[in-house]
Amino acid sequence: MPLVTPAPASPPPFVLVLGGANLDIVAAAPALRSAESNPGRIRCAPGGVARNVAENLARLGHRARLVALVGDDPFGALLRDATAAAGVDLSLAQVVAGASTCTYLSLHGVGGDMATAVNDMGLMDRLDPAWLAAQAAPGSPLAEALDEAAVWMLDCNLRADALAWLLQRERCGLRCVDAVSAHKAVRVAPLLAQVDLLKLNGFEAEALLGAPVGDEAGALAAARALVGRGTGQVVLSLGARGVAWADAMAHGDAPRSGFAPAPAIPAAAVRNTSGAGDALLAGLVHGRLAGWPLEAALRFGQGCAALTLQVDAANHPGLSAAAIQAGLVAVPVPSTA
Ligand SMILES: Nc1ncnc2c1ncn2[C@@H]1O[C@H](COP(=O)(O)OP(=O)(O)OP(=O)(O)O)[C@@H](O)[C@H]1O
Ligand SMILES: [Mg+2]
Repeated sequence: MPLVTPAPASPPPFVLVLGGANLDIVAAAPALRSAESNPGRIRCAPGGVARNVAENLARLGHRARLVALVGDDPFGALLRDATAAAGVDLSLAQVVAGASTCTYLSLHGVGGDMATAVNDMGLMDRLDPAWLAAQAAPGSPLAEALDEAAVWMLDCNLRADALAWLLQRERCGLRCVDAVSAHKAVRVAPLLAQVDLLKLNGFEAEALLGAPVGDEAGALAAARALVGRGTGQVVLSLGARGVAWADAMAHGDAPRSGFAPAPAIPAAAVRNTSGAGDALLAGLVHGRLAGWPLEAALRFGQGCAALTLQVDAANHPGLSAAAIQAGLVAVPVPSTA
């Protein structure tokens, strides 16, 4: 009998996630007074949009490779341990000697309202075009990863020149960008035509377009305007109200758009809204990798966001594709089989 050598199996597609990885420290004191030592609660959890999305993707069963910098301090060690434990591949992340890990510290008073916050994101400045060019020299692991990734997921914590360096590189996989904040969203403004999928919220859209977004109709107009600037698909989230979307990538069609209301969640079940947008984006990427149309990917992403709202941290440890599918009986997602 002839010996048939099976063709080597091609490695599963992976997502290359580049951007912010930080530690979030949240202090809450019900009777906060300045210049006092206030009794309260202090919680510390991994954060950073890119890191959060990478963790969510790993929990959804994908190989997520994170390109981010951390310091060689205890916060950096904590971040690396937690992120690796969630299943994220950190082989392309780098520990920078003598640097402080990016940290976000917020102080909350009566009713949980934020009184003030300090962010120490100075390490992001080191992730510049010179660092990228050196790390991505021909034949290097980062060069290969940039060429071979099915999806790039970038966040606007990256410097504007680093975003430009990446997005002006030759096209390989799908390019997704999260706008992160109104202040940082403008970094992607000159690069919108290089982006396949943009996730942003109302404040970020206002900063990018220089005009108020307002209600659902305004969000829809803003999503369409961003597609008009060359972005393939735009997902503009409005918190509990839902998501406006515009899609110029639907095969053979003129751009389509719509508004997807958020699934109703009892207010009492909402523990913390930060990280919901990152879960939504991870779900969108999951859907794109599965080849689903944007609307189906959105429903899945909204399921991921709804689950994530129900924990204090920015990531839900119980996130999985099966958990989301099980919660989506009323709005079935196409099978990947
Ligand atoms: N209070 C809420 N009730 C119900 N659903 C919510 C609520 N807040 C957020 N969501 C869901 O999460 C999605 C993303 O939320 P949001 O618009 O707040 O994103 P974001 O501002 O990017 O959040 P993030 O803080 O993670 O950056 C929404 O589209 C919605 O599906
Ligand atoms: Mg967000």
